[in-house]
Amino acid sequence: MADLTTRFLGIESPNPFWLASAPPTDKEYNVRRAFEAGWGGVVWKTLGAEGPPVVNVNGPRYGVVHGADRRVLGLNNIELITDRDLETNLEEMARVKADYPDRALIASIMVPCEEAAWKAILPRVAETNADGIELNFGCPHGMSERGMGSAVGQVPEYIEMVARWCKQYYDRPVIVKLTPNITDIRKPAEAARRGGADAVSLINTINSITAVDLDRMAPEPTIDGKGSHGGYCGPAVKPIALSMVSEIARAEATRGMPISGIGGITTWRDAAEFMVLGAGNVQVCTAAMTYGFRIVEELCAGLSDWMDEKGYRSTADFVGKAVPNVTDWKNLNLNYVAKARIDQDLCIKCGRCYAACEDTSHQAIAMTPDRVFEVIDAECVACNLCVDVCPVENCIEMVPMEAGRVDPRTGRVVSPDHADWTTHPNNPMAQAAE
Ligand SMILES: Cc1cc2nc3c(=O)[nH]c(=O)nc-3n(C[C@H](O)[C@H](O)[C@H](O)COP(=O)(O)O)c2cc1C
Ligand code: SF4
Ligand code: SF4
Repeated sequence: MADLTTRFLGIESPNPFWLASAPPTDKEYNVRRAFEAGWGGVVWKTLGAEGPPVVNVNGPRYGVVHGADRRVLGLNNIELITDRDLETNLEEMARVKADYPDRALIASIMVPCEEAAWKAILPRVAETNADGIELNFGCPHGMSERGMGSAVGQVPEYIEMVARWCKQYYDRPVIVKLTPNITDIRKPAEAARRGGADAVSLINTINSITAVDLDRMAPEPTIDGKGSHGGYCGPAVKPIALSMVSEIARAEATRGMPISGIGGITTWRDAAEFMVLGAGNVQVCTAAMTYGFRIVEELCAGLSDWMDEKGYRSTADFVGKAVPNVTDWKNLNLNYVAKARIDQDLCIKCGRCYAACEDTSHQAIAMTPDRVFEVIDAECVACNLCVDVCPVENCIEMVPMEAGRVDPRTGRVVSPDHADWTTHPNNPMAQAAE
């Protein structure tokens, strides 16, 4: 079995799977059970300033998007940071860390954007012996109306300023948790780096209304006839998170900055995808809330089997491995030509590929009277739509054409050379080919 031990910012944990700051990490009882189940680390549910704790609604706080099989595809919440007092949380954190010295314990913090507030809480967090802190600049609801959470994460200058205070008043690693509710994720990451933060984690939740109750005429979850937007997470947000992680991993200004990947991670494969795109470890919330703490067993076993199969001895061997292959559209090889191929033995003759291609793509699938479906190479642009809509896995595949053959659609010989938009004759800005 491959060694899953992971060092992130010098913090060692037995595997790269941390629980994200959320209800699963809200109290000692949960975190002890999570560690017993095998989680490598936790980011404790976000702490607020000293004083009366925040107050949550007393009605439903989650909304959901289900798949056809009622699987949870997306979860939305209007919950705030911890509603337990600071002292209780700090005492529990210290006890848990003392009992589980081999696990990562990170304190998530959200206090007003004032130096005094950060200066007051940081020494108290340090006393718990937590391994580091995560600055919650991400929650898009409730706290943002009070000038915290994503209200800070949307202003790079504030991120830089608070990160600098934290590095000044706290001597362990500082992670800045980013909000995805922003146009260009590289800007807040750059600000975090300028402020001296050691890493970024992303994504926090996305502004969302998951459904509207058409009888009550109000968004769900509905509290006494009214609803407000909440934060969206779960499998549905993974593509957005992966893209944002890769943008930070490959941007010149943030390249090499450690990243903790978050967003929809449910399986070992999801985790591996985040890690090859640059995340040094990953955090999980919705999957644990949906399936319980024991999913960590499958995450570890699956990742370890894959590492054995590929010959990776440690997670560091594959972190960032796909980053060089993430590029801008303009660099994609326009000489690469593929065609769809239908495996007649697998085909169940449902006709979805035909309907999709005939009505909305390139009329490149022929249907015989007895429902045999064949691709017409002279029409197929290789858009992949038929592959995406076919209900049978691997029934349709995209087959690249060999160099030297003639593409029946264009009449051109497939070239073995790379040619992209930067040198294409139709591009008015094309650089002359060397
Ligand atoms: C009910 C709920 C409460 C959350 N509370 C916090 C929080 O207090 N602090 C925080 O940084 N993130 C919070 N999050 C966001 C998660 O930590 C995580 O960033 C997000 O859910 C995406 O991961 P996932 O798709 O695995 O759920 C919360 C998420 C949920 C669902
Ligand atoms: S790849 Fe696109 S164009 Fe080709 S057959 Fe499939 S849907 Fe039609
Ligand atoms: S969508 Fe797939 S299974 Fe259905 S007809 Fe097309 S190839 Fe066959």
